[in-house]
Amino acid sequence: MVKMDENELIRIAINARQEAYAPYSGFRVGAVILCEDGKVFTGTNVENVVYGLSLCAERVAVAKAVSEGCRRFEAVAIIADGPTPCPPCGACRQFLAEFGAETLIIMANMNGDIRKAKLKDLLPLAFTSEQLFNK
Ligand code: THU
Repeated sequence: MVKMDENELIRIAINARQEAYAPYSGFRVGAVILCEDGKVFTGTNVENVVYGLSLCAERVAVAKAVSEGCRRFEAVAIIADGPTPCPPCGACRQFLAEFGAETLIIMANMNGDIRKAKLKDLLPLAFTSEQLFNK
C-alpha cells in the first residue's frame, strides 16, 4: 500500500529533475524512491563526457537509499519530458529488482501522462540471487 499519493511522488521527482546533469543527451530525468519506512530518496541522471559512465536517475536514487540504510522500496516514480511516461531502462529494472519485485513503478512525463506497473511485470523471469544461493 503506497503511503504517499502518486501525484506527490511525481511532484518530488519533477523537483529533483531540475538538478539533472544531462549536457550530452539533453534528456533530463528525475526519480524518487518511496521506502517502506516513509523515507524518500531522489535521483537525477548524471552524464559524463565518457558517455558510458553516465548514470540513470533511478540508479542514483537506489544508491542514495541503500547507502542510507533503506532497502525496502514501496514505489519509484520516474519523470522525463518524453512523448510517453518514462519507462526505466533495462539496467535500472535489474538494479531495482535486487531490492524486490513488488515495487510499484510510476512512470510519468511532463504532459501529465502516467503509467504504473509492478517491477515484476516490467522484468519478467528476472535473474535473482535465488539462482546463486539455491544450487
Ligand atoms: N535515463 C535515465 O536517467 N533513466 C531512464 O529511465 C532512461 C534514461 C537517462 C540516461 C541518459 O542520461 C539519458 O536519460 C538519455 O538516455
